[in-house]
Amino acid sequence: MQFTAFNGSPAGRNSASNRIITAFLQGAERAGAQTACYQLADYQIRQCQGCFACWFKTPGRCALADDMPELLQAYQAADVVCFASPVYSWNMTGLLKNFVDRLVPLKSPQVQEEAGNFDMADAQLRPQRFVAIANCGFPGENNFAIIKAAFSCCNPCLEIYRNCGRLLKSANPAVQPLVEAYLRRVEQAGFELAATGAVSPETQAEMAKPLLSVPEYLKFLGM
Ligand SMILES: Cc1cc2nc3c(=O)[nH]c(=O)nc-3n(C[C@H](O)[C@H](O)[C@H](O)COP(=O)(O)O)c2cc1C
Repeated sequence: MQFTAFNGSPAGRNSASNRIITAFLQGAERAGAQTACYQLADYQIRQCQGCFACWFKTPGRCALADDMPELLQAYQAADVVCFASPVYSWNMTGLLKNFVDRLVPLKSPQVQEEAGNFDMADAQLRPQRFVAIANCGFPGENNFAIIKAAFSCCNPCLEIYRNCGRLLKSANPAVQPLVEAYLRRVEQAGFELAATGAVSPETQAEMAKPLLSVPEYLKFLGM
C-alpha cells in the first residue's frame, strides 16, 4: 500500500506540517506501507488557467509546462493521499490550493451527483483514500473550519488538526517532551490506518488533546 503526502507549507522540510507528516508516514511504514512525501515548495506549480484543454483538447494532459507531471504520477500511484497545509488566513496555503486545482486533468468532463453534491467524475476509477493534515498558530478549533469544509469534498478517512502549531518547531526543552508524545500518537495513527484501514477513536482522541492550556501557550509565544 502506497501512502503519499503532499506538503503545502512554504517552509517545506522545516515546517511543523512536515513534522506531523513524517511521524504519520513512519507509523504507516511500521505497518509495512510504502511512503513518499512531496514538498510542494520544491516544485514549480503554475496556476491553473481554466482553459480545460486537459479535458477537451488533450484529455488528461495539461497545457502548462512545469513540474506537475511528476506530481500527478505520484498522486495517481497513491492508495492513500495525505494533503497537508498550515492554516494561512483561515484557509489552506495558496501552494496547496494551486496543487489541488492542477489535479483537474485527473477529472473527466462528466458531472456526477452524490447526496446533493455535484462534482466532476474521476477519469481513473482507482479507489483512493484521503487524509487531511493541518496545523495552525493560534489555539482553538475555529481556524480549521474552512480547511475542514474544503476537504470534506474528498471524504477523508482521517483528519489531523493541530492547533498551537508553533510548539512543533520549538527547541524549548520544556516543550519538546509534549511534542514528542504528540508525534508518537500521530505515528500510531499512521500505523493503525496502514495496518487495519482505520484509526481507533482512542488514538484520534489522544491526538486531539491540547498540548498546553491557552494561557500557557500565549506565554510560550511571548506575544
Ligand atoms: C500568512 C500567514 C497566515 C497565517 N494565518 C493563520 C490563521 O489564519 N490562523 C492561525 O491559527 N495561524 C495562522 N498562521 C500561522 C501558521 O498557521 C503557523 O505558524 C503554522 O504553525 C505554520 O506551519 P508550518 O510550519 O507547517 O508552515 C499564519 C501564518 C502566516 C505566515
